[in-house]
Amino acid sequence: MSKLVTFDSVKNDGTINLGIGQPSSDLLPLKLIQTATNAFFESAISQDLNYGATAGDDRFRESLATFLTKQYDTPVDPKTLFLSSGNSQALDFVCSNLSKPGDTIFVEEPTYFLAASIFNDNHLNIVGIPTDENGMGIDRLEEELKKTKPTLLYTIPSFHNPGGQTLSAERRKRLVELSKEHGFYIVADEVYQMLNYYETPPKALGTMIDSGTVISLGSFSKILAPGLRLGWIQSSEEIIEKLGHAGVINSGGCPNHFTSLIVKSAMDLGLMDNHIEEIKDSYRAKLEIMEATLQEHFSDTATWYCPRGGYFFWIKMNDETDTVKLKEKAKELQTGFQAGELFSCNNGLKDYIRLSFASYNESDIKDGVTRLRSVFN
Ligand SMILES: Cc1ncc(COP(=O)(O)O)c(C=O)c1O
Repeated sequence: MSKLVTFDSVKNDGTINLGIGQPSSDLLPLKLIQTATNAFFESAISQDLNYGATAGDDRFRESLATFLTKQYDTPVDPKTLFLSSGNSQALDFVCSNLSKPGDTIFVEEPTYFLAASIFNDNHLNIVGIPTDENGMGIDRLEEELKKTKPTLLYTIPSFHNPGGQTLSAERRKRLVELSKEHGFYIVADEVYQMLNYYETPPKALGTMIDSGTVISLGSFSKILAPGLRLGWIQSSEEIIEKLGHAGVINSGGCPNHFTSLIVKSAMDLGLMDNHIEEIKDSYRAKLEIMEATLQEHFSDTATWYCPRGGYFFWIKMNDETDTVKLKEKAKELQTGFQAGELFSCNNGLKDYIRLSFASYNESDIKDGVTRLRSVFN
């Protein structure tokens, strides 16, 4: 799975590129960060500008544990947390410390294409396990485990990117049992776990770290701001200890120590909980306008599953259109999508597209989807 991938961060004027999966600027909380920063400076000490402790500053880990205990509705011990600079960095860090080139990693088919690019950087052999509306197919996984022994298994359990689906509670349990039976680590990318717009998803895999096989990755990118580059790894104390011996940490201390103290102050002031509720209301409205506009324009040509959280719709074109060929036409019509094949381990999924409702306001989402209809005529 080696593809040229691009990071679509820039929006061209007038184009509504629904391929981009980033928060819209009105959801990036400048004021909140300013309040948290001011509160931090009221009691800051010069040591806060020194290297940070290996697994992250204890004050940050404690506040994060309190925040997660509430969000996950399960006690979280600060000793099981390790600061990261977001899930992308954490993925690379986990791969480089817990696997070696040539090892196998199982992923969902489809999977997050930029995670696959990190696995390629680490020279891992990627094997895709098909998914359905309840997440990774556990029967297919068991079949694959008879043939191949993976070192790692990467999953996005809640509100998948790109699939939108959530791994059921039964499958989470079975997955953890299989990891123990077969001796592989589950790397759970739980970046969307808190972005549920209707019912609460099954418990985060971060609540199942007692197995000794689960490494849960969390991030402030989707619940606060990606530019902060801050996240966490949640795992057993043994794995946390092992990660602390990494050369990069011994040399530089934890990543992003200073920012972590500002985010600590945001959590302590209770700003995070309110903010998450606010963005969820906004994302729910965006999701619903995308669903309604898709129903209006695409119900005769495509099928999809309406997500219950996260950022994405994963849409299958009925006539087996090779969607990548339509990207240029979409650009001409000032709209955009991600083509399905980008998310496949074996050049499949060509008749899918991924749309995100995160980056635009409701009226742009409506216009963007309406323009897309002309692309698929
Ligand atoms: C599944 C998934 N993992 C990781 C990331 C990137 O996370 P971070 O900003 O924490 O590196 C994204 C962002 O789109 C994502 O969708």
